[in-house]
Amino acid sequence: MRILVTGGAGYIGSHTCVELLNEGHEVVVLDNLSNSSEVSLDRVKELTGKELDFCKGDIRDRDVLKKLFSEKPVDAVIHFAGLKAVGESVQKPWEYYENNISGTLILVDEMRKAGCKNIIFSSSSTVYGTPEKVPVTEQTPKGSCTNPYGWTKSMLEQILSDIQAADSEWNVILLRYFNPIGAHPSGRMGEDPNGIPNNLMPYITQVAVGKLERLGVFGDDYDTPDGTGVRDYIHVVDLAVGHVAALKKIEEKAGLKIYNLGTGTGYSVLDIVHAFEEATGQKIPYDIKPRRAGDIAENYADATLAKEELGWEAKYGIREMCQDSWRWQSQNPNGYKS
Ligand code: NAD
Ligand code: UD1
Repeated sequence: MRILVTGGAGYIGSHTCVELLNEGHEVVVLDNLSNSSEVSLDRVKELTGKELDFCKGDIRDRDVLKKLFSEKPVDAVIHFAGLKAVGESVQKPWEYYENNISGTLILVDEMRKAGCKNIIFSSSSTVYGTPEKVPVTEQTPKGSCTNPYGWTKSMLEQILSDIQAADSEWNVILLRYFNPIGAHPSGRMGEDPNGIPNNLMPYITQVAVGKLERLGVFGDDYDTPDGTGVRDYIHVVDLAVGHVAALKKIEEKAGLKIYNLGTGTGYSVLDIVHAFEEATGQKIPYDIKPRRAGDIAENYADATLAKEELGWEAKYGIREMCQDSWRWQSQNPNGYKS
């Protein structure tokens, strides 16, 4: 199939491009490079030995989309493009709603005009808000989000579901990612955050490489086994493979489907610190800090549905996630800029 990958130069998108090319799909990436570097796509080509088409452009630009869809028919869109920094979204809500929601509305409008009605959308476990019980299944009610970023995911899920309900020619797969970490096992591709990382694993790897001094652990008084927050960390390559599985479902005329992509296992912040130290031999000094606003105690997936319906399950464990994150960070201390 020919797949348009929006946001394909980013962290999850670039890993997904590798898996798509390895499966024999044709890939065209549309990315405005607002949070990524084209070097990631050079690495995709290097690792797969295959070519892909790249268009530097914005999903909000109708002319670019029209050109892309008319040049060669696109069979399906995997839609990663969006802004994703939770804290920034609180400061810049308009920018987040405009980029993520207007961008998706324009993309979907140009898709239907071009007769391409297959989309896989990057959603997030954040749509569950503060779940009443864990693990969460896809039947767990969506909750109240704590920030505009989360609301864009929740609202876009609703918008895409309504579009599919109104026109059964659409196939819409909403993938709710848990906490992607790790990097390509080659050490050639990984997460390359701008500035000081907000998320746990990139913060840990930057402490390990000496760019940051100490990790702050946000709260040790949660109702969890060791008091620190529990999450479902998933290797980015497993996540990427999940998209290839979802594409097969699209080919079966899926209609509307929603899947959790997680491992089903929760690890606390201190579990991750210890797993990282064991897997890499690097010591991570840390201090206990106050809770971070908007954080929840615990969230992990019941990923049974993805296993049953997509034949997909996560293969990598926490040790590989830590080792691969570290290989990427230690070999590329300045990310794609080095
Ligand atoms: P990322 O920032 O690395 O990738 C997103 C890409 O989209 C970037 O390359 C950026 O340049 C591009 N982009 C942003 N706005 C664009 C626009 N208007 N037009 C064209 N390109 C644009 O992020 P990621 O971690 O790879 O996440 C990919 C998707 O998955 C995002 O939608 C994100 O919200 C979602 N998601 C990520 C996580 C996570 O923890 N990383 C968790 C859940 C969901
Ligand atoms: C966050 C976002 C979520 C988004 C996800 C992936 C919030 C409230 N949620 O999830 O919407 O989909 O990132 O991008 O921000 N931690 C520390 N010290 C740190 C960093 C994190 O102790 O320096 C802790 C957190 O308190 C949490 C865990 O580590 O318990 C994981 O944090 P993080 O990696 O930021 O992911 P989430 O908060 O789960």
